[in-house]
Amino acid sequence: MKKIIAGNWKLNLGPAQARQFFVDWKKSAVTSSHQIVFFPSAVSADATAQALAGTGIEWGLQNSWTAPSGAFTGENSVAMSKEMGAQWCLVGHSERRQFFGETDAWCADKVKAIMGAGLKPMLCIGETLEERKSGKMFDVLRTQLTKGLSQIPKASFLAIAYEPVWAIGTGVVATPEQVAEAHKFVDDVLGELGFRETPILYGGSVKPDNSEALLSIPKVSGFLVGGASLVPAQFLQIANTKG
Ligand code: PGA
Repeated sequence: MKKIIAGNWKLNLGPAQARQFFVDWKKSAVTSSHQIVFFPSAVSADATAQALAGTGIEWGLQNSWTAPSGAFTGENSVAMSKEMGAQWCLVGHSERRQFFGETDAWCADKVKAIMGAGLKPMLCIGETLEERKSGKMFDVLRTQLTKGLSQIPKASFLAIAYEPVWAIGTGVVATPEQVAEAHKFVDDVLGELGFRETPILYGGSVKPDNSEALLSIPKVSGFLVGGASLVPAQFLQIANTKG
C-alpha cells in the first residue's frame, strides 16, 4: 500500500497564498510514489482543487458538518467538498477537540458522514502530555478508536493519524521508541475492531530532517504534517522521503 504524506494547513494560506504555494510546489517534482494529500482551509479549497486537478494529488477539508446541507451557519459539508473534487476529510484533529469541543461521539458521526458521501476520513487521535504522564495513554487511544469507528462497517477504508498532542507544533518529536510503541498499539486495536490494514500516519513536528527516520519505524504508514507543509520546499522534501 502507498504511504500517505498529508499536509494540514490549519488556518493558514488564503487563496492567493495557496495559488502561490502550488506555483512554487510545481517547480520541483514529487519523485516518490507516496500518495500526497492536502488539507487547505475551506476558503482555499477552490484554489487547491484547481491547482491539483489531474496531478494525482488528493485533498480534503480539515473539518465538516455531518449533514450535506441545511441550517448550520458557518459549517461546510463533505458533499460540497466532493462537488469540488475532494477525496478526503480530516476528523477530530486535537485542535478541534481542544478549541471546538469535538467529542468522540461527534467524530464518529463525522466519520460516518464522510464515508456515506463516498470520501475517505482521516481520523486524528492522540494523548495529551498529562494523559501520557498519568499512564492513561493506552486507554485514551483505545477509547478514541473504539468510539470514533463505532458508526461504520468493519474493514471500511480510512486512515488514522496518531498525533501525540504534546508533539504538535512544539518542535518536540516523539522518540522512535514512543512512535513504535503507540503505532503498534493502535494497529493492534484496529485489528481487534475489524480495521486491519488501516494506514496509521504519524503527526507532530515532522520535518525534512526527521522524516526518513520516522518513516522507517514499523507501522508508520505516512505523516500528517502541520508547520512544514506550509513551505513548498520543505513539504516536497518530506513528500519525497525514502521508504
Ligand atoms: P505540526 O502539526 O507538524 O506543526 O506539529 C501537525 C498537525 O497538527 O497535524
